[in-house]
Amino acid sequence: MLPKILVARAIFPEVLAKLAQHFEVESNQSDELWSAAELIVRLQGKQGIFTTGGERIDAALLTACPQLKICANMAVGYNNFDLDAMTAAGILGTNAPDVLTETTADFGFALLMSTARRMAEAEHFLRAGLWTRWRYDMFAGSDIHGATLGILGMGRIGQGIARRGAFGFGMKVNYHNRTRLDAAIEDRCQASYVSKEELLRTADHLVLVLPYSAASHHAIGAAELAQMKPSATLVNIARGGIVDDSALAAALRNKTIAAAGLDVFEGEPKVHPELLTLPNVVLTPHIASATLPTRLAMANLAADNLIGYLIRNRPVTPLNPAVLA
Ligand code: 8YV
Repeated sequence: MLPKILVARAIFPEVLAKLAQHFEVESNQSDELWSAAELIVRLQGKQGIFTTGGERIDAALLTACPQLKICANMAVGYNNFDLDAMTAAGILGTNAPDVLTETTADFGFALLMSTARRMAEAEHFLRAGLWTRWRYDMFAGSDIHGATLGILGMGRIGQGIARRGAFGFGMKVNYHNRTRLDAAIEDRCQASYVSKEELLRTADHLVLVLPYSAASHHAIGAAELAQMKPSATLVNIARGGIVDDSALAAALRNKTIAAAGLDVFEGEPKVHPELLTLPNVVLTPHIASATLPTRLAMANLAADNLIGYLIRNRPVTPLNPAVLA
């Protein structure tokens, strides 16, 4: 008998077909959003689950699903996992790193450019039929080339953004991270390590790429926004909750900073109502990794982790390898 797994959300048919070669699969191609209680019911008798960032895996769920062995996340971020509870229960967690790095860095840069050059605001103006003549300061934004790029969180995606800024646009790159990177990596990214205070004070464009945790909750709030230049832009492609969205809305309204580009939100898919009304913010629905080849690679990696662990005892990208020992 094949081991049973649950695929929590709709996914590429070819990835489901691959999983079906190894498992008895319960899928969700109608893409219903299951409550925590329904997830527990569906997980009965299942050894593995294919999750996206939206399914919470916590101690209560693990206790209620004693046959579960692995949760494979189709995301590099895994703040939906209580990894300590998973390790304590002997459940493996896996994520989907690397395959999305360059695509996500591309998007971070696109959002930076769209924010600095006011592209979304200008497009809405044109579509509304308001473009009747040229004006010297119409949608005048800020420069990207030669500006100072600040990066908070210098993992793989942060480094990708740094390289784009330094080598593509001649930017001066500053970064802040929990730990300073090796000199060789700093050199490859042409990036200088600075304190968080200096990062905030010097950035013309600040990009957030740090993982979400209790420690990074509201890492950017009213106090941090007040330290930024009034001409600065802020981009968040990390996670909702890293920015205090209500403080950001106030800062954008009061011109404490010039503009923001947001792909992630506190409590998404809900968006702070004031952000929806402000002209100086570009809003996208958590799509930084969304190209078809990258999303397919992420799904395949999650599937390969399920197959690797449950069939061959060799997961590809384990988060808590202590469980394997
Ligand atoms: C995912 C992401 O699309 O990988 C991540 O951490 O935020 C996105 O790439 C999202 O989490 C859904 O799985």
